[in-house]
Amino acid sequence: MKKEEIFNFYNKYILGTYFKLPVIFVKGKGSYLWDIDGKKYLDFFPGWGVVSLGHCHPKVMSAIRNQVSKLIFVSNNYYHSFQAKLAKELNFFGFDSKVFFCNSGAEANEAAIKFCRKFGKTRYKIITFKNSFHGRTLACLAATGQEKYREGFLPLPEGFKTAIFNDLKSVEELIDKETIAVMLELIQGEGGVNVAKEEFVLGLRKLCDEKDLLLVIDEVQTGIGRTGKMFCYQHYNIQPDIITLAKGIAGGLPLAAMMVREDIADVMKPGSHASTFGGGPIVCSAALAVLKTIQKDKLLTHVIRMGDYIFKKLAELKSKYSIIKEVRGKGLMWGIELNIPATKIVESALERGLLINCTQDYVLRIMPALNISKKDIDKGLKILENVLKYG
Ligand SMILES: Cc1ncc(COP(=O)(O)O)c(C=O)c1O
Repeated sequence: MKKEEIFNFYNKYILGTYFKLPVIFVKGKGSYLWDIDGKKYLDFFPGWGVVSLGHCHPKVMSAIRNQVSKLIFVSNNYYHSFQAKLAKELNFFGFDSKVFFCNSGAEANEAAIKFCRKFGKTRYKIITFKNSFHGRTLACLAATGQEKYREGFLPLPEGFKTAIFNDLKSVEELIDKETIAVMLELIQGEGGVNVAKEEFVLGLRKLCDEKDLLLVIDEVQTGIGRTGKMFCYQHYNIQPDIITLAKGIAGGLPLAAMMVREDIADVMKPGSHASTFGGGPIVCSAALAVLKTIQKDKLLTHVIRMGDYIFKKLAELKSKYSIIKEVRGKGLMWGIELNIPATKIVESALERGLLINCTQDYVLRIMPALNISKKDIDKGLKILENVLKYG
């Protein structure tokens, strides 16, 4: 099929829920993708952070290949060898939890919301934050602190209140006798790469303890090494009560998880919640390969080093180009706020062979693979500089 035919085919048969760039990818390896015309692209935003170890990582491929020939799927009414093993590996980083596996970030957050309500008995209200993003299901939209996603989908489930990010007093003011939890992204990805301040997060933990509230950390975007720790909360010296994970956990396959503090986890009983596809043998095998590779290849240290390097380089660009207003982020999750709309920059970068993203209209976003090399970072930032310079 020719390119135009594929575009037309999509337009005819696929529901138009996505903004799409006119490029058709056919092959990927590491931090590179190739399109249908054979053009090569450097990927600074692999699968929205899903392809955490780069495209077609050999360990992920071999885990999938090995498993696919033995057992593709069994339902959650039976046991298989990998789910509990994966849960144990996730616990290794210091959060003693029981884990529920599902398929997407929204589904993990739905599970967390349902857990909070079950735990809370008569308390059901959850405080979330302005500019947060927690997913597209109705409850997750109600949790998401951005009006634009809700338009046309009202009424939403009740019981969600929106506080101001990094403003502890605004949280305090919203707590009443029906409040059960606070739900937070430590770096708001879709909200513009806004980083939570340390004193705010420490204060929030203390407040939750004083008011007997659960602290739910949405690590769908920040988790699995993205910020240089396995979980972003580890930068803040706190313990959450619930963590949700998705994106990078299985190196490109659909897997998500809700981790709940072990001592409260038994609120959920057989029949309380379920997900038919959640945590099958193939996705869990892929996730085990991802976690093993992160540790074996010392990728957390690499992410911190590359993150420091990217920040230094972006700060240099900021001092050279007045269109850059601010650079924010941690590890390999960076936002570059411009004082001009960023969409054109994304399109020009694509033409020059670099894939980046834009959020909140003015913020360029980069989240390269956790194992990206310094050489590829230099290459990508050079392309970005040329786009900023020449358009
Ligand atoms: C922080 C956060 N939570 C939840 C979600 C929803 O994840 P999914 O699209 O897998 O449902 C996203 C997606 O971007 C996210 O960034």
